[in-house]
Amino acid sequence: MTQTYRSIALVGAGGKMGMRISENLQRSDFNVYYCENAPEGQQRVRDAGRNLSTIDDVIADCDLLILAVPDIVLGKVSEALVPRMKAGATLLTLDPAAAYANLLHQRDDVRYAVAHPCHPSVFLERYTQEEHADAFGGVAATQSVAAAFESGSDGERAALEAVIRVMYAPVDDVHWITVTQLAYLEPTLVETVTCMLGTFMKEALDETVARTGVPQKAAEAMLFGHIQIALAVAFRSTNPFSDACMIAIDYGRENILRDDWKKIFDQAELDKVIARMLKIDRVRRDEVAPETSS
Ligand SMILES: NC(=O)c1ccc[n+]([C@@H]2O[C@H](COP(=O)([O-])OP(=O)(O)OC[C@H]3O[C@@H](n4cnc5c(N)ncnc54)[C@H](O)[C@@H]3O)[C@@H](O)[C@H]2O)c1
Repeated sequence: MTQTYRSIALVGAGGKMGMRISENLQRSDFNVYYCENAPEGQQRVRDAGRNLSTIDDVIADCDLLILAVPDIVLGKVSEALVPRMKAGATLLTLDPAAAYANLLHQRDDVRYAVAHPCHPSVFLERYTQEEHADAFGGVAATQSVAAAFESGSDGERAALEAVIRVMYAPVDDVHWITVTQLAYLEPTLVETVTCMLGTFMKEALDETVARTGVPQKAAEAMLFGHIQIALAVAFRSTNPFSDACMIAIDYGRENILRDDWKKIFDQAELDKVIARMLKIDRVRRDEVAPETSS
């Protein structure tokens, strides 16, 4: 039973998440092996001053394997690597989709965990230029992390939290939930709803400028200020929306939202969106993972 993770292998170290978390892991006391397949990715790892390792050389010694590879290849990559992991070691993925869809190669003596950064809150009080510049998190602006480690003991969860806090630093809270709950957060809450609304607002801005002749800068000033006040009123009750604004909100809901939009929280719908994201025909949650041989 692992109570401290000493040796960590990071696969996909030259990708977007791999590079981000490597910057923080590199400054820690953890012994980290940076593994990357693609030549461009390997170059990025070298340019950042990190040594490359070959996963075949290090996997048997590592008590934590982090897979920072695209979700659509996690099934195949786990099929190749999990059989060679040390008994009692932990596999950490950075998004719940593949774990939720039961695509990860299973072994009874390997633990499975997921940890996803929440990104710095829109309500975070930022003081320095570095904090203001850190939209994604992991550099200067504090963020929380949502994580799942259902097969882990309390001790293992604490040990993994120590790694997660370094990977995504600076971190305030690590919220331990289930893989399914994590999947309802991402994609349902934050991608299907929130990122969709972000792109929707951009489209509405473009339409305003194209249709009405309002100068871009005037439309942006009005929109960006109102994004801030709409969030403050809706989530922080700083002051009420005006009566006229409530009427306009109702008009917007009637004309833009479907009456049955909350069906996105039905698990059958979650399965649909995750299957689409993973480019598989359907999610097989309750079946033995296809890669598992016994
Ligand atoms: N990009 C984001 O904003 C973000 C945010 C949160 C979580 N995630 C999660 O992080 C994970 C990685 O996503 P990403 O956006 O960094 O992907 P990416 O495509 O930027 O990077 C993936 C890297 O993995 C490498 N790779 C692929 N197969 C490999 C193999 N077999 N061995 C070694 N290296 C291999 C690729 O060459 C690439 O460098 C995914 O699970 C994703 O859902 C991404």
